[in-house]
Formats: sequence, structure tokens, C-alpha cells
Amino acid sequence: MHKDPRNTSLRTNTCAELRPEQIDNLVKLCGWVESVRDHGGLLFFDLRDRWGLTQVVCDPSKAPDAHAAAAQLRPEYVVEAAGTVEPRPEGTVNPDLPTGTIEVAAASIRVLAKADTPPFEVLNETNVSDELRMKYRYIDLRRRPMIDNLTVRHKIAYAMRTYFNDCGFLEIETPGLTKSTPEGARDFIVPSRINPGRFYALPQSPQLLKQILMVSGMDRYFQIVKCYRDEDLRADRQLEHTQLDMEMSFVDETDIQNTIEGMLAHVFEQVKGITLETPFPRLAFEEAMDRYGTDKPDRRFELLLADFSDLAATSEFKVFRGAVEAGGRVKGINATGCAKYSRKQIDELTAYVGDFGAKGLAWFKSDGGALTGPIAKFFDAAQLAQFAERLGAKDGDLLLFVADNAKVVNMALDRLRQRIARTEEMYDPHTYRFCWITGYPLFEEDDEKGITPAHHAFCSPLPEDVDKLETEPLAVRARTFDLVVNGVELGSGSIRINDPELQQRVLSVIGIDEEDAKAKFGFLMEAYRYGGPPHGGIGFGLDRFVALLQGLDNIREVIAFPKTTSGICQLTDAPSAVDPAQLEELKIQTKK
Ligand code: AMO
Ligand code: AMP
Repeated sequence: MHKDPRNTSLRTNTCAELRPEQIDNLVKLCGWVESVRDHGGLLFFDLRDRWGLTQVVCDPSKAPDAHAAAAQLRPEYVVEAAGTVEPRPEGTVNPDLPTGTIEVAAASIRVLAKADTPPFEVLNETNVSDELRMKYRYIDLRRRPMIDNLTVRHKIAYAMRTYFNDCGFLEIETPGLTKSTPEGARDFIVPSRINPGRFYALPQSPQLLKQILMVSGMDRYFQIVKCYRDEDLRADRQLEHTQLDMEMSFVDETDIQNTIEGMLAHVFEQVKGITLETPFPRLAFEEAMDRYGTDKPDRRFELLLADFSDLAATSEFKVFRGAVEAGGRVKGINATGCAKYSRKQIDELTAYVGDFGAKGLAWFKSDGGALTGPIAKFFDAAQLAQFAERLGAKDGDLLLFVADNAKVVNMALDRLRQRIARTEEMYDPHTYRFCWITGYPLFEEDDEKGITPAHHAFCSPLPEDVDKLETEPLAVRARTFDLVVNGVELGSGSIRINDPELQQRVLSVIGIDEEDAKAKFGFLMEAYRYGGPPHGGIGFGLDRFVALLQGLDNIREVIAFPKTTSGICQLTDAPSAVDPAQLEELKIQTKK
């Protein structure tokens, strides 16, 4: 039997453990001091550790030395308190605290470390600036919500490992100093001292190496791994994030999806006690774009998009007709029950969609079985009936439309539907609606009208579309799938190409010729010449997943030491200047 390491040489219990069953026990607790309170001679303070709080009471008539020591305590001092567990006197029981029925009557108090006045109080709810929280992260992490976040993160990772172990996966580490793995972001590069002028890249993901592991015959690989991407930071993006990364051999899409569903069901059960309904629905990319305006649909509520481009093309309303004539679209949603909105509220929504490029927001109210509003005059009765029918309008509904190019229309309406559903409380925020998005295009146009992979360059095209690779690349569909929940992309995976010739054809479409390919991914192409099995896998964002389970918008809250949006670690002050001698050794000159 191993000893529970929570009992150490310095303590008998944690600060969350004592209950009435331990009354009269002699105990020793260690922790940080929360406010010392003087109640008519008796001194009280709470002792806090990672697990919880216990109240300590010092009575000058019973233990004068302990009382004198307690009088010197200041917040965040680290102390050892030894004494007897006693019931709290009637009327002083704290039902909100697991240890709230007892207290420890101190026989001795020993200060283990003093503390300066902390820059902020250790409170559950804090309105301290992020800057201060990050600079003094060690104090911030003493707060209960932060302890909970890191605990849940640990439990999730632990449950993932158990699950994958049970399914015959091997956790295999891949290097941090490696060659560029293209995931669409910039690389972080590390100079090699031994090979001056040459650089490693930090992995944007283990993509190529996990594929090599399949060529090695490892069959089932997973890893909980750091991925480094030099990209603009947002609430759901960090320079380094953690992925649950996995790859499997001799599989098709469903094997990977089933494995991930099984993993999620296990994690939800273990960590949240929630039974997830599987399998998750599959939604075709095209359908997601049509009905939700996004490939990351929030399916906790309806408010589906409907297309009116056909009606718009023949209408008298210039804004609508003009958009369609310019190659754009007109789509709308039914904000059910929102006919009550005032002009001002509609103006606010118009300004909101403006943030996403929409030049306006057209609307009808449904009232007395008819559609009304300033633009109703542009449409005949049959057209109005079509608007009402396609959006299922009932009295009291507000119909909202955006006319623009497809990208703006979809983005604006996706955001609008989320905003309305949130403000109108149309869903239970504590539900999880997972789905798979399938049938992605293999390529997309980048901002300069070039062609780039929609996911990454190693995803297999659908076999029936391979003929179109050179002639009609944007029409080629991929064996790619995304896992989405509540409007958040959690993971992306695919069946990979395992044929070097096909791989080269795909690379050529994105402008990587054979020579280039050899320099960049020659090792993968060569590996395939020695027997690369059919394989596929997925990368799953752990930070986003933990944030989702904790109901948080910003992944910083679930990362112990995150960076600010300007890429700075305020605790350590990284990135920082280096010693000129170091640069000299690396043969690196910096520009002034
Ligand atoms: P992808 O680039 O889609 O796929 O990443 C997989 C998942 O990782 C999370 N993620 C991030 N989380 C926080 N900050 C970031 N900067 C960040 N970037 C990505 C997202 C995303 O869905 N190698 C492929 C996977 C594969 O094909 O197997 C890959 O990395 O939740
Ligand atoms: P206007 O013709 O500019 O007075 O606009 C009439 C109505 O159409 C207003 O409610 C505008 O907000 C709306 N509108 C203008 N441009 C667009 C657009 N691109 N998409 C949807 N509605 C629009």
C-alpha cells in the first residue's frame, strides 16, 4: 500500500479534508493565510491550499503562544497550524464550505514563509486587470476558479490517455526541434549553433512525423503535444497550444470519427458525469454553409439561414437585385418572436452586421398574417408569401436579410444568429451539440487568388474527384472532416494521401514542384516508397476543449502560463533580448 502523499512530514491532512468524524483528532495543516479576524480576543483565520479552506481559531487562554503568533500573520503568509479538530459553535457553521462544520483549535502556529502584501486579493471573482493577473500568475493561480480549470484540464488529459491506452494506442513523443510542418501559419525557427546558418522549426503540429510513424507500422499513435504557430492571437488562439494528436492505420473516416466519439464519451463521463449521445450527426460542408453560413455551426438553436437570391433577382428592390446581379446572394433568418424590436434595436443589429462587412440589414415584421416594413412595398404578394414561407414566419417574428457576396452574407448572418439566440436566451448554454462537418473542398482560394489547401497538403482527395485535380482543382472534395461543438472548431482530421505520385500532383496544384517538394517533404515522399499504409488521423484542440467544458471564452483561463495578445509572457518577460555573445556563437546579426 502506498501512502497517500497528501499526508506529508509537515502535515496530516489537506485543508479540505476535515469533517465531524475527525473531531478531537490532533492535526497539522499547512497553507496560505486568508484574512485574520479578531473576535473579542479569539483570532480566526482561514488556511488555504489547493484542495480547500479550513478555519483555524486561536484562543489566548488555551494557547497563548499560538495566539501571539497568529496576531503577527498577514495575508498569504505560509504557515503550519497544529491543533485539535473541534465542532464549530452553534450559529457559526458555514454550510457553503465542505469543512464548514469544524475548525482547528491551534496549539501552535509556525510561519514557513512570509509574504509581501499581494498586488491583489485571492478572490474567486476578480476584476483585476489581465496584465496584473499575468504578471503575478502564481497569485492568480491560487484562486479557486483557476485551480478548478487546471484540475479539469488534468482530468481530461488523464481520461484521454486512459482511453487511448485501452484502445491499443501508443503515446509516442515527436521532436520539438524539427523541420517545418505546414499548417498554414508562420514557423517559429531556432538557429543551430553546430550548423551555422541553419535552422530548426518548432512543429506547427506533428503532422508529418505521425504519418511517418504509420509508415513505421506503429498502427495507432497518439500524443498530447505542444504545437507552435506564429499567428495573430485571439481569445481562442495562442502561439503555443496543446493538441490531442492521433493517427491510425488501415482506417477510413468512420474509424477515426468513432474513436474520437468514444474518447469524448469517456471524457464527459469521467470528468463531467454527462452521458454523451453518439454517434454525432454528420453535416455536409455545403449544407452547413447554406443553412448556418459557417462550417462551425452552433447547433444549440435553430434560426437557420434561407436563400432568397432567386426572388431577389427579379425584385424591384435595388439593394437585393443589385447584389445578385453582381454575383452575390441574398439570405435571411427568422428572428423568432423579435417583431417587438424597436427601430433602435434594429439599428444596433445593423451596426453589428456592419462589423462583418454587411452594408445594411433589411427586415420585415410578421404581423396579422402579413409582412410589413419599409421594403415591403418593393415586393408583390406572391413574393412576400415566399419570404414568409421559406422562413416559416409566424406573427411576432422579425425577418432579417443581408445582400452581398456570399462570404459577407454568410459571415454576417452566422454572427447575427448567434447574437440573437444569445440575447433572446434561445438555448441552454450548458448543452453540448457536437457534429462532424464532412465533404470539405480540398483547396480554397487565398487572398491573392492563389490556391492553397483548405486543411493541409497531405489530405486525400475523394477518389472520384482525383481526375479534376489539374482541370478544376477548386471542385475537388477532400476526405477531411472537422469536429465542431457549439460553434467552436475542436478538431480537424482527414484520410491522408499514401501514394507519392498523388501527393506530388496535389503539391503541384498549390505550386510546389518536385524539387521544392523534395526539399520540404522529401523524407515523407521517400518513406512512402517503402510501404506507407492507408492511414488518417485528427488533431484536437485541448485548450479549446477545456475552455468549453469550463464555460470560458478565453483559452488563457485554462493555460497555466499563457501569452498576451501581443505574444508576451508577462510573468517571465519573454521574449527578451539575448546576450551578444550568444548571437555571435550562432553567427546571427540583428538589424538595428
Ligand atoms: P489544425 O490546424 O486544424 O489541424 O489544428 C487542430 C486543432 O487545434 C486547435 N488549434 C488551436 N488552438 C489554440 N490556439 C491555436 N493557435 C490553434 N490552432 C489550432 C483547434 C484545431 O481544430 N495536423 C492537423 C490535424 C490533422 O490533420 O491530424 C492540425 O494541426 O481546435
Ligand atoms: P437604403 O436603400 O440604403 O435606404 O436601404 C433600405 C434598407 O435596406 C435598409 O434597411 C438597409 O439597412 C437595407 N440594406 C442596405 N444595404 C443592404 C444590404 N447590402 N443587405 C441587406 N440590407 C441592406
